Formats: sequence, C-alpha cells, structure tokens
Amino acid sequence: MKLLVTGGAGFIGSNFIHYWLREHPEDSVVNLDKLTYAGNLENLTEVEKNPNYQFVRGDICDPEVVNPLVHEADIVVHFAAESHVDRSIMEPGVFVQTNAVGTQVLLNAALEYKTRFHHVSTDEVYGSLKLGSDTKFDENTRYDPHSPYSASKAASDHLVRAYHDTYGLPVTLSNCTNNYGPWHFPEKMIPLFITHLLEGEKVPVYGEGINVRDWLYVEDHCRAIDRIITDGKIGETYCIGGGAEKNNMEVTKLLLKLLGRDESFIEFVKDRPGHDLRYAMDYSKITKELGWKPSVTFEEGIQKTIDWFKEHREWAKRCTSGDYQKYYEQQYEQRQ
Ligand code: NAD
Ligand code: TYD
Repeated sequence: MKLLVTGGAGFIGSNFIHYWLREHPEDSVVNLDKLTYAGNLENLTEVEKNPNYQFVRGDICDPEVVNPLVHEADIVVHFAAESHVDRSIMEPGVFVQTNAVGTQVLLNAALEYKTRFHHVSTDEVYGSLKLGSDTKFDENTRYDPHSPYSASKAASDHLVRAYHDTYGLPVTLSNCTNNYGPWHFPEKMIPLFITHLLEGEKVPVYGEGINVRDWLYVEDHCRAIDRIITDGKIGETYCIGGGAEKNNMEVTKLLLKLLGRDESFIEFVKDRPGHDLRYAMDYSKITKELGWKPSVTFEEGIQKTIDWFKEHREWAKRCTSGDYQKYYEQQYEQRQ
C-alpha cells in the first residue's frame, strides 16, 4: 500500500511514520509537510534513507502540490494541522486556513482520484466535561468546541463526513485524547515540563492545575490508527482514549518526583482563557469492533518519555532555541 501522510514531520505524524515503516515494511510512505515551526525533519533522520520513504515539502492548502500526491496514493492519512490551543487563541486565522481549508483541499483531491481518506482528529471537538463526573465522550457526543483550535478541527471533521455522505468518499475518522511521548514539541504541557525540569527551570501551571486530561502514549495512538486503516468500517468514527485521567497537578507532581525536583519548581500562572475543564474518552467501540486498547500505562509511558527526553536533550534545546529550523533547512537544501 502507498500512504500519503500529511504532517509527518510533527509529533504524532513522525511517530506514525516510524511505526508504519517498522510494522509494514512492504508499504511506502510519502510525507507531505509544510515544515511550520512544529515540523522537524530531525524527527525522521532514522528513516531518511529508507527507499520506501519520501519527503515532500508543501502546503496542504495548495492543490497543485496536493493533487499529484493524492493521485499516487492508496490512502491519505491526514495529521497536518495547527495543533496548539494557546497559539490558536493568539492567532486563529492560520488554524482555520490549515485545519479547515487544507482538509477540504485534500478531500477534493481524494474525491477526484477516489482515494481513501483517514482523518486524525481530537477529543477537543466535544468540548468540556464536568469535573468529578463519570461522563465521558463517545462517538455520539454532540460537538461543542470552545477554542479556535477545537472549532477548526470540528470544521474539518464535518467536512470529512460531508464528503462521505454527499459524494460517497471512502473515509474513516478518529478522535483521540491527549498524546505524549518521543518527538513531542516542547510547547505542550508534558514535554515543556520535562525539558524545564531537566534544565532546572520552573514549570508554569495554568490556574490551579485542576483541569483533567486523558493521556495516551503516542505509539498506542499509532496502533489504533493502524487498526482503523486495516479493518475499520468506511464512514465510521472511532474514539480513542488512554483510560488515564489525571489533573494537571497530578501530572506535575509525578514529573517533579521522577525528575528529582521539589514543589518550589511549580509556578502558578494566569489561566488559559476558555480553558476546558475535563476531557475523558469512552473507547469501547474500537475495543469491541477492532480489538484495540491502550497497552502502555501512564506511569510506564511517562517513564519512557522522560528517558527519551534525557537522551534527546540537544534535540529539545534546538526546538526551544529555534535552531532545529536551520538544521532542517540545511537537510532540505541537500536533498534538492
Ligand atoms: P504537530 O503540531 O506536532 O504537527 C503538525 C504537523 O503538521 C507539523 O509537522 C507541521 O509542519 C505540519 N503542518 C502544519 N500546517 C501544515 C500545512 N498547511 N501543510 C502541510 N503541513 C502542515 O501536531 P500533532 O500533535 O502531531 O498532531 C497531529 C494531528 O493529531 C493533528 O491533526 C491534531 O489535531 C491531532 N491530535 C493531536 C493530539 C495531541 O495530543 N497532540 C491528540 C489528538 C489528535
Ligand atoms: P496542552 O499540552 O497544551 O494540551 P491541550 O490544551 O490540548 O489539552 O495542555 C494540557 C493541559 O496542561 C491543559 O489543561 C493546559 C495545561 N498547561 C499548563 O498548565 N501549563 C502549560 O504551560 C501548558 C502548555 C499547558
């Protein structure tokens, strides 16, 4: 099978490419990525020389780039997005452009060439749950996005379903909870806190740290997408979750403990506007229909992630300083 992976130089996309080439060595992967601040070719140096892997730098909003690549592919696995809630509050326009318009450009191409489409989305489209309740999101939860990020992802989900319902495009969708693991850009909470604590800096906890997220180790997400691509039913949505609800103070205290720092390293800062209180996912559909469930516990996953960041301190420093962009620019020039 020939996969066109969009956003493969980002956090989950790069983990997915490593995963796919390892688990499906007979398949080929083309990675289409614009290399925004979040795209880093350094995440993919291990696969650069694999003859079944190719990188194309380009924008998913540009049909001239997208059309021939979709034409060549058996399936589009669509990760490319602007993904950080805090950035979406500062600059919502680019979120609408990439997440909504870019998805529609890809869908048009998929329709033209009758290419299957798997859309990678988030639990954040469902809004916020009450703290302390047992309620969870599932495939039937009403959409209720609150941030420009989640609203733009909700728009993309609706477009994907519209192309299926209106034109019969063969699509599947997945909505997943918060991921963590290797190659996670240190602007999101877990990698930011690990890198700060490794460097002896304080960690900024928003508000009182009571917000709850349901954490999933990134490789388990990749495995879930594999199950959907391989055996998922066309037209269906699958919710993916970690079964690991933690509030931000619990996560922070665990990181402090594992990294040998005390609570003087916590700095409570102004809360995020419109900060969703709680996310949690009922993933029983994908368990029942496709036999998937998380395989890595939160405690195991966090230890693996800390170990990875300890081994990749220079990578993280290059991300924070912006030097990784020079690195991949050089790599890109050499490839031409
Ligand atoms: P990321 O920000 O780390 O990576 C996004 C990638 O998309 C980057 O490589 C970037 O260069 C690329 N990109 C951005 N705009 C582009 C454009 N216009 N054209 C081509 N490439 C472009 O994001 P991530 O955390 O890896 O998330 C990947 C996908 O998974 C997103 O769709 C996100 O909504 C979804 N998701 C993320 C999480 C999470 O916890 N990170 C959870 C559930 C779902
Ligand atoms: P984040 O990793 O940005 O993911 P999302 O907002 O998409 O869930 O944030 C996870 C949680 O951590 C969220 O409740 C916001 C909080 N947070 C902090 O307290 N401090 C930080 O510096 C960041 C980036 C997030």
